[in-house]
Amino acid sequence: MWLANLVAPAFLAVLASASPFEKSEGLAKRQTILPYTSYNGTLAYSPPKYPSPWGRGSGNWSAAYDKARAFVSQLTLAEKVNLTTGVGWEGEQCVGNTGSIPRLGFPSLCMQDSPLGVRFADYVSAFPAGINVAATWDRGLAYARGVAMAEEHRTKGVDVQLGPVCGPLGRAPEGGRNWEGFAPDPYLTGQLIGPTIEGIQSTGVIACTKHYILNEQEHFRQAPEAQGYGYNVTESVSSNVDDKTLHELYLWPFADAVRAGTGSIMCSYNQVNNSYGCSNSYTLNYLLKNELDFQGFVMSDWQAQHSGVSDALAGLDMTMPGDTLFLTGQSYWGTNLTIAVLNGTLPQYRLDDMAVRIMAAYYYVGRDTHYVPTNFDSWSRDTYAPIHAAVESQIGLVNQHIDARANHASIIRAIGQASTVLLKNNGALPLSGNEKWTAIIGEDAGSNPYGANGCSDRGCNNGTLAMGWGSGTSDFPYLVTPEQAIQNYILNSGKGEVFAILDNYAQSQIVTLAKQASVSLVFVNADSGEGYINVDGNEGDRKNLTLWLDGDRLIHNVTSVCNNTIVVIHSVGPVDVSAWYNNDNVTAVIWAGLPGQESGNALVDVLYGKINPGGKLPFTIGRPTDYTTSVMTTPNNGQFGAPQQDFTEGLLIDYRGFDANGIEPIYEFGFGLSYTTFSYSNLVVTPVNAAPYTPFTGQTSAAPTYGTVDTNVADYLFPNGTIERVPLYIYPYLNSTNLQASSSDPDYGLPANQYLPSGSSDSSPQPFVPAGGAPGGNPGLWATVATVQATITNTGKVAGDEVVQVYVSLGDGEPPRVLRGFERLTIAPGASVTFQAELTRKDVSTWDVASQNWVQVSNPTIYIGSSSRKLPLSAKLSGGSSSGSSSAASSGGSKSTGVPVSQISDGQIQATRTAPPVSQISDGQPQSPKSTGS
Ligand SMILES: *[C@@H]1O[C@H](CO)[C@@H](O)[C@H](O)[C@H]1NC(C)=O
Ligand SMILES: *[C@@H]1O[C@H](CO)[C@@H](O)[C@H](O)[C@H]1NC(C)=O
Ligand SMILES: *[C@@H]1O[C@H](CO)[C@@H](O)[C@H](O)[C@H]1NC(C)=O
Ligand SMILES: *[C@@H]1O[C@H](CO)[C@@H](O)[C@H](O)[C@H]1NC(C)=O
Ligand SMILES: *[C@@H]1O[C@H](CO)[C@@H](O)[C@H](O)[C@H]1NC(C)=O
Ligand SMILES: *[C@@H]1O[C@H](CO)[C@@H](O)[C@H](O)[C@H]1NC(C)=O
Repeated sequence: MWLANLVAPAFLAVLASASPFEKSEGLAKRQTILPYTSYNGTLAYSPPKYPSPWGRGSGNWSAAYDKARAFVSQLTLAEKVNLTTGVGWEGEQCVGNTGSIPRLGFPSLCMQDSPLGVRFADYVSAFPAGINVAATWDRGLAYARGVAMAEEHRTKGVDVQLGPVCGPLGRAPEGGRNWEGFAPDPYLTGQLIGPTIEGIQSTGVIACTKHYILNEQEHFRQAPEAQGYGYNVTESVSSNVDDKTLHELYLWPFADAVRAGTGSIMCSYNQVNNSYGCSNSYTLNYLLKNELDFQGFVMSDWQAQHSGVSDALAGLDMTMPGDTLFLTGQSYWGTNLTIAVLNGTLPQYRLDDMAVRIMAAYYYVGRDTHYVPTNFDSWSRDTYAPIHAAVESQIGLVNQHIDARANHASIIRAIGQASTVLLKNNGALPLSGNEKWTAIIGEDAGSNPYGANGCSDRGCNNGTLAMGWGSGTSDFPYLVTPEQAIQNYILNSGKGEVFAILDNYAQSQIVTLAKQASVSLVFVNADSGEGYINVDGNEGDRKNLTLWLDGDRLIHNVTSVCNNTIVVIHSVGPVDVSAWYNNDNVTAVIWAGLPGQESGNALVDVLYGKINPGGKLPFTIGRPTDYTTSVMTTPNNGQFGAPQQDFTEGLLIDYRGFDANGIEPIYEFGFGLSYTTFSYSNLVVTPVNAAPYTPFTGQTSAAPTYGTVDTNVADYLFPNGTIERVPLYIYPYLNSTNLQASSSDPDYGLPANQYLPSGSSDSSPQPFVPAGGAPGGNPGLWATVATVQATITNTGKVAGDEVVQVYVSLGDGEPPRVLRGFERLTIAPGASVTFQAELTRKDVSTWDVASQNWVQVSNPTIYIGSSSRKLPLSAKLSGGSSSGSSSAASSGGSKSTGVPVSQISDGQIQATRTAPPVSQISDGQPQSPKSTGS
């Protein structure tokens, strides 16, 4: 605990040459590959934090812990190891499976992608992406989607759904996987990830919140993948961030996820301050398991584990898919974990804690009463196929083709409707259906010529875009395209002629069609996805914010001859609209995001006025050069060849950056129009007498152990004759009674004190941290300190939804305004409703790096309105939490201050790893006893 008393400064940094562990073998090896290079900044440093906190059953986890402890107490060492270690890539039917415990009839646990449905399965739904849930600003829809997705996972026999996502948060607008999560605002994301998790887990399926943490871009997330693209990178990118930014931005939604009871959290590929996501004792032990008091288990992203014992001590609880790299037949855990306990390097309590955490999550969601055997296969759609796909052995019944979809299409359509954002409307919408001549123009309106699932993991951009690409996908059961839905609507409910041209490059035909059209609906898009697939030169992340398939020119060709052009955008995030958004011939603009299988139906509901749009942008649309952040695409070479990405913008991402820099966005965060209008009045901000905030104090019990470890090495030999050994499969067993020979770890026997930080195996009672105390953090952070009330009136002629938004100015060193409340209200024409929101202590606090705690801001200004820039009412919250008197003073007017691989789960192209895996480097870096940075 070298740095236990150290005040965390911005960018903890150390000169790596000061390390006492420089001589450790693994490090020396890495240094000869790529010594220090041209990165000139001070290397960010992640302080060691040990020991790994043992779960204690806090919050509402105590019943689950009682059951888990009782279960784990019965287990042998090898059985415990089986719970923690995957059987290897393609070893069983799911993208990840743990070992089983046949003696107790306990099955292998099945981990399956994705955050928007069941990946690699038939008869499942393709739900709207997370970014569309964000655009609904509707907690109820987030919950309903969670329930529906998890019901499908449960029906197919999945134990852990690998989702939802709040990392990436969305730092860079081009970030390839931003759409899998919600929004680049921690509050909005946190408010929607909580209900998503509660929905998932209400069905008895464990949620796995990912990717923890700072996994903000695809470029350089894994060295082998980057090398496959020709980059000279030998280690994953390091996201370098300061403590305040980490707490106020990136950790925030994970706190909400933990508070909502997420059973699992997936650690990420990237490094954080030069320590790997799954080896990082600071982010795992200190932040997640101590400060956030996380009671579930940490699972590695696929191949994100880089060492054995040291990752266990840094807080990793389960390794996926189990092999070191896909199909090596070797594991950092499995046999090695059994040996590490037998040779005394890993204390029994840590292994027991892993097993208890896994089983606690299992009981917490009630999996013991919801179990369904896996009845689908990720690797084949055939009914009969090899059970162990990795080695094509043992043909068996793998696909029972069970239809899991129920009535989920209606939830999908409802989210599609509610997430549609109307950005511009000069009276062109809604359409009547009786337009004389409707033109549908653009490839994005139609079908993929290869079929909706024609490109594996959606790794192409053909036809209408309804989800991004990568492991965060599912196969479509069908995909209703805009072209189909619009034409059907006009034929069934309207009159007039309707024509579609889906080839963006059929320029003369498009001009001819648009010239005669009463209305031209132009469809454009922009796609992105996971880094293992490169689509048209976009290596996961987008190359830029430009519309794909020459979208700007397509729009221009239409607007040059048609004065009623309506643009519909399907995109993974912000796109550059600057060339055409204010063209008078563009009479309406709609952002429809990634709506899933009911895409066309949901859009038609809005276009023809069955539904009044109420979605709001979950990101800022500005000019491309106006964003404060972007993806790093040219690697610099920092420590051991790891590109260094310094998050120098701190808190100022997305709208916070535009606000702070006084830059006018085109369409701001939170913006969205309706077919009606709303007015705001009577803001009242009332302080509430909350109990004083008390820093959490005290200490844990000593580390418990469950059952005793049989130390007779012979008892761990492979049970030849009892089970048949499957090649490449990862087992907990030994091949011989010689531990070193069984391990075949090249660094075997290195004394622990040469690579493990001191205190890492300490089992004595440990101090709690002031901001901790319950899952999600100190319970006092959720005390209500103020209520915000206002009257919202529908001043138009039709019923509509308004998303009322509350922003807070937290003062110096903070963005001008941050979102801290919202509610989506349905209001009848002419009617007024009272909006009410509660502000928690955390909502009006900032992170104090010195005290390592949240500190309430005095007299913050509270704004209310319809977007981050349209905030007609404001008031000061005065008196703090003890005043109890109403003192709101309203003021008018807002101030603006300011190589496709088809079956890789969370994976990547596997280039030959040129850097040898380092088995025993704690925190992935030299450990220094003192910080020389500031
Ligand atoms: C690092 O500093 C050296 C000397 O000042 C300079 O020549 C080099 O270009 C710098 N490298 C980078 C990546 O900035
Ligand atoms: C570990 O899991 C494997 C695969 O399910 C199984 O064959 C083996 O029997 C298990 N070992 C123990 C000790 O339960
Ligand atoms: C990779 O970078 C290192 C240091 O920057 C350099 O020594 C090495 O030659 C580079 N390798 C290639 C293949 O460019
Ligand atoms: C044990 O881990 C090392 C890497 O630390 C690896 O080289 C070795 O193959 C592993 N042993 C087994 C049996 O998987
Ligand atoms: C389908 O997508 C691929 C990959 O983006 C592209 O090369 C191809 O031209 C597209 N084909 C059609 C017919 O759209
Ligand atoms: C103990 O076993 C682990 C796992 O095989 C190995 O990494 C480590 O070097 C061993 N340590 C000793 C002291 O034998």
